[in-house]
Amino acid sequence: MRDPAPTAVHLSDYRPPAWLVDAVHLTFRLDPGATRVLSRIAFRPNPAVPRGDLRLDGEQIRLISAAIDDAPLGDAALAPDETGLTLPADQLPDGPFTWTAEVEIDPAGNTALEGLYMSRGMYCTQCEAQGFRRITYYPDRPDVMAPFSVRIEAALPVLLSNGNPVDSGDGWAEWHDPWPKPSYLFALVAGDLAAVSDRFTTASGRGVALNIWVRPGDEDRCAYALDALKRSMRWDEKVYGREYDLDVFNIVAVDDFNMGAMENKGLNVFNSKFVLASPETATDQDFERIEGIIAHEYFHNWTGNRITCRDWFQLCLKEGLTVFRDQEFTGDMRSAAVKRIDDVLMLRARQFREDNGPLAHPVRPESYVEINNFYTATVYEKGAEVIGMLKRLVGEDGYRAALDLYFDRHDGDAATIEDWLRVFEDATGRDLSQFKRWYSQAGTPRLHVTEAWESGTYTLTFRQETPPTPGQPAKAPQVIPIAVGLLNPNGHEVVPTTLLEMTEAEQSFRFDGLAARPIPSILRGFSAPVILTRQPDNAERAFLLAHDTDPFNRWEAGRALAKDALMRMVTDGAAPDTAFMEALGRVMADTDLDPAFTALALRLPGPDDLAQGLYEAGVTPDPLAIHAARETLSTAIAGAHAGRLEELYRAMDVPGPYSPDAGAAGRRALRQAALSYLTRLDGGRLAGAQFAAARNMTEELAAFDCLLRAGAGAAAAARFYDRWQADRLVLDKWFTLQAANATPAEAVAVTRRLTEHPDFDWTNPNRFRAVIGAFAMMNPAGFHDPSGAGYELVADWLIRLDGRNPQAAARMASAFETWHRYDADRQAQMRAALQRIRDRAELSRDMDEMTGRILEG
Ligand code: TRP
Ligand code: ZN
Repeated sequence: MRDPAPTAVHLSDYRPPAWLVDAVHLTFRLDPGATRVLSRIAFRPNPAVPRGDLRLDGEQIRLISAAIDDAPLGDAALAPDETGLTLPADQLPDGPFTWTAEVEIDPAGNTALEGLYMSRGMYCTQCEAQGFRRITYYPDRPDVMAPFSVRIEAALPVLLSNGNPVDSGDGWAEWHDPWPKPSYLFALVAGDLAAVSDRFTTASGRGVALNIWVRPGDEDRCAYALDALKRSMRWDEKVYGREYDLDVFNIVAVDDFNMGAMENKGLNVFNSKFVLASPETATDQDFERIEGIIAHEYFHNWTGNRITCRDWFQLCLKEGLTVFRDQEFTGDMRSAAVKRIDDVLMLRARQFREDNGPLAHPVRPESYVEINNFYTATVYEKGAEVIGMLKRLVGEDGYRAALDLYFDRHDGDAATIEDWLRVFEDATGRDLSQFKRWYSQAGTPRLHVTEAWESGTYTLTFRQETPPTPGQPAKAPQVIPIAVGLLNPNGHEVVPTTLLEMTEAEQSFRFDGLAARPIPSILRGFSAPVILTRQPDNAERAFLLAHDTDPFNRWEAGRALAKDALMRMVTDGAAPDTAFMEALGRVMADTDLDPAFTALALRLPGPDDLAQGLYEAGVTPDPLAIHAARETLSTAIAGAHAGRLEELYRAMDVPGPYSPDAGAAGRRALRQAALSYLTRLDGGRLAGAQFAAARNMTEELAAFDCLLRAGAGAAAAARFYDRWQADRLVLDKWFTLQAANATPAEAVAVTRRLTEHPDFDWTNPNRFRAVIGAFAMMNPAGFHDPSGAGYELVADWLIRLDGRNPQAAARMASAFETWHRYDADRQAQMRAALQRIRDRAELSRDMDEMTGRILEG
């Protein structure tokens, strides 16, 4: 199976298809080991290009017969290779023709979870990015769009596909999707499923049937997802003027799924962990994630489906925009300030890590070997940041005008980033040629700042610089929107938020007529995805933490104090910084603050964030020293503020029935943050009491987490297991917390023991991630154990998983992307682990590309 020289695909090689598709008819005769797929495809020459061969993609399928205009093709004319078959132009009719074929596929044997596969007795598909070619022969590329009609035959109660239901009977159902779509949006689901249903009336009066399909027994966990769906539909009408366009909208929850969810037209398929929620089984965080992902997939109906991508290099066209839209939605549903902080935390943890390592790539990559490896934080999260910058630059009205034009002009198209930028240029008159570099240059820009103060004039001078990334040694200056506000020394804002547009490598901005030298608040709202290198003294940070009117920068000031305190503890063995702890005390005492904000302020920078920061400062990070510093500082905070923490714990109790709303969730978040500090003082007494009396999963899991970290979690682990062993999603949490919280000395052994547990079903992606992913990504002190045993453990499991599910395995290889940060011994061990993965005889193309790029970069 190993491909000796996997070939790269290049953006510059794009050619439009020689043949277009007018209609697709598919019949599925479902059978676990031998499903038959009959296809009838109406082709027509693409008038825009010269006549050419017709390439049909097809992988891991058995061709039984094929015909052109009902004339059967002989074996000689049909010579499929490993990846498809080519019908030469000179053997095809001059004009339109119909291709029919019958193929056989093996859903039960499909462990890659791409194409048609089975999950606990249920048939389901995943076609993005290139899974449709595992279902039948087809030009499996997003710029070929067609209406689909589907007939499903199977002795199963529920048979679903895209679009509207046409007709059904005993053992069969027919569907028609009138909206032309690329094959990656095709979906089919069949099984014994139960629906939770509702109706929605669109702004123009169209009635839509809404269904969430789940395993019988899970119906009582769908209410929140359904409510989130209706709110998403209303929001997209109100904010973007976008209505839903079919008679039904179906969502299915599946237990075996490679990612979060998939936006198939009219038939979204979800990882069950992002649909199912009840107060007893899901945490506040789960509820918020469900809301965000339901919205994300729904929003794809316009940004992704009605307007799709010309080719996979344009992935950020749909993903960056749809992430941006779901972030706006959550900001509107909850606290916009808290949402922004959460998003930046995520961006820095995942995207900055990627952008500053061997896997760095542009938001629009220029080549790939396996496209599944490019569903990355850069394409998604940095892609969303780029749109946020565009919106800041053109303003609310300009943005709305550009988006209206985008939907108007490109509805039904397979579009490009050039198309996207042109609507902004045409709607606003702006030249975006320099801005476009955000799509082509990888790496996180560093923004250096110097200040000058002279007789009433304050000058900020910025210098930008982007470090080299793989394949890109030199970078040109980018357009950086820098939101700045100025405060006077007694804490009043003298210059409200102003957007500075930096376009040069170095550029100054003047503020005149000031009575006193101001204190600057730079990059408000995190107005650009850059690293601000300015290191103001801690007095200034404390001042901003107390007075800044911009909530993001207020939080950022506290964050910088914490980071500085921790870095000095790691590098100089400094004691916990009292100024930081006092500032934190003032935040805790400020009852005007949103509890969710205070909870975020109480959260110390994570170990990986500190490792990034140390590496950036020229210090080789020691994961054990980082772990120790965080422990010491946390205990010092607890000791310094015991009274206040107890008070918060009491005051933030949320009585009455559980509600997942942002207000209640924020109070619970602050209460759990307090509990986590208090556990350092009482050895787990309070956490134990909370665990025993927990009224919902948020309380139960937080208490369990505290007990584990206090080294007092054995009894709680046993009880939690007894209570939840039959619930897959809750049991995932049980595995995750133990792998993530094990002490550095025990982490490898604990994780190994978890992998030996009878419930460790490594073939289920959620369970695999709950153990191996949690250990590798959430327990750095364990993963980077000086013996190298952590790397060995993860490599062993990635080798095993690569043989079964290359996509899921390759994604997790990014645990090794930070090797360059560490000391020589760890570097050698990490590289050896990667090399051992590569030495696997049947190495997948996915893993080959990932490990190769990590090692070379
Ligand atoms: N398009 C999906 C989303 O962003 C993500 C996705 C891409 C996906 N490839 C996938 C999901 C494979 C599951 C499996 O919402
Ligand atoms: Zn998406």
